[in-house]
Amino acid sequence: MQPVFRTSLPLPGRREGKVRDVYRTSADPASPLLIVATDRLSAFDVVMPTPIAGKGRILTSMSLGWFGFLRSRAIVGDHVLGTDLSGVAGLTAADRATLAGRSMLCRAAKVVPIECVARGYLAGSGWNEYRANGTVCGIPLPSGLQQCSRLPRPIFTPATKAEEGHDENISFERACELVGVGLMTRLRDLTIAIYTAAADYALERGVILADTKFEFGFALGADGQPTDELILVDEVLTPDSSRYWPADDYQPGRDQQSYDKQFVRNYLLELVAAHKWNKEAPGPQLPAQVVDATLQRYEEAVVKLGLTPFGASR
Ligand SMILES: Nc1ncnc2c1ncn2[C@@H]1O[C@H](COP(=O)(O)OP(=O)(O)OP(=O)(O)O)[C@@H](O)[C@H]1O
Ligand SMILES: [Mg+2]
Repeated sequence: MQPVFRTSLPLPGRREGKVRDVYRTSADPASPLLIVATDRLSAFDVVMPTPIAGKGRILTSMSLGWFGFLRSRAIVGDHVLGTDLSGVAGLTAADRATLAGRSMLCRAAKVVPIECVARGYLAGSGWNEYRANGTVCGIPLPSGLQQCSRLPRPIFTPATKAEEGHDENISFERACELVGVGLMTRLRDLTIAIYTAAADYALERGVILADTKFEFGFALGADGQPTDELILVDEVLTPDSSRYWPADDYQPGRDQQSYDKQFVRNYLLELVAAHKWNKEAPGPQLPAQVVDATLQRYEEAVVKLGLTPFGASR
């Protein structure tokens, strides 16, 4: 399979994220978005020069599977319109072949500039902060927790959506100052509800959802202005936005073998330790075995979670 590193489609409004290329499907500012998951991989917020061929397809199917799951639970509305691109004008047959399986049509939204993170376990930046202060994003936690310990209950730890560079963890109070207490209260409750439903489902299938990040937005109306309809946007519950661990190998007190970019991160940390990379762009080329192992882990997670593709009858 040919990897898709970057797309340049004959559509307006092109924006490029670290992993996704986003377009509008017509000149109308309220027209549906075409969100394309490329095979780019970012680690430490740097896009690697080596694509992971097929990753965009895996992530799209996983995200759509979870959107379908969340619809069945009726927790929150979302931005997905579908995957049938036959109504999108201007694409060549080659464009359509490139996009198949890695793109979704979505309602355009004004994205709330807060990353909504739910954590059920103590990992990553949460563990680092807990070790230093006994808190995570300012939330005090019981003493005696270990690395990757399960928390007494899931917590909401918002972060700013940085335009450039790294997102920054902030307190709930700070998030309220930025976008309002009413909105943040809704986002917190939705984030915990979605996390809890997804984590329960995953655990029944032998997968721990340690933490995850959601983005929400206000759907645009016909005039292109945001309405007051709050919807879940972006990707959901993929290994790019979440930490997944195999439950049968789980043991607090150490790092876990996660279903995500762990192989890449470990490889990169070796380079950093050897002073061969400084965590700044450009990233280094990734060796084939790291690429293959990463893809394999993503595939394993999809199989284990066994989600029904979006739109299929259940
Ligand atoms: N329905 C939507 N309406 C508008 N923007 C959206 C919608 N869904 C997702 N997005 C935006 O599309 C982009 C997806 O690209 P990607 O995830 O690769 O970006 P990123 O590098 O994570 O950048 P960012 O920091 O902006 O999230 C994100 O900026 C996300 O906020
Ligand atoms: Mg993103």
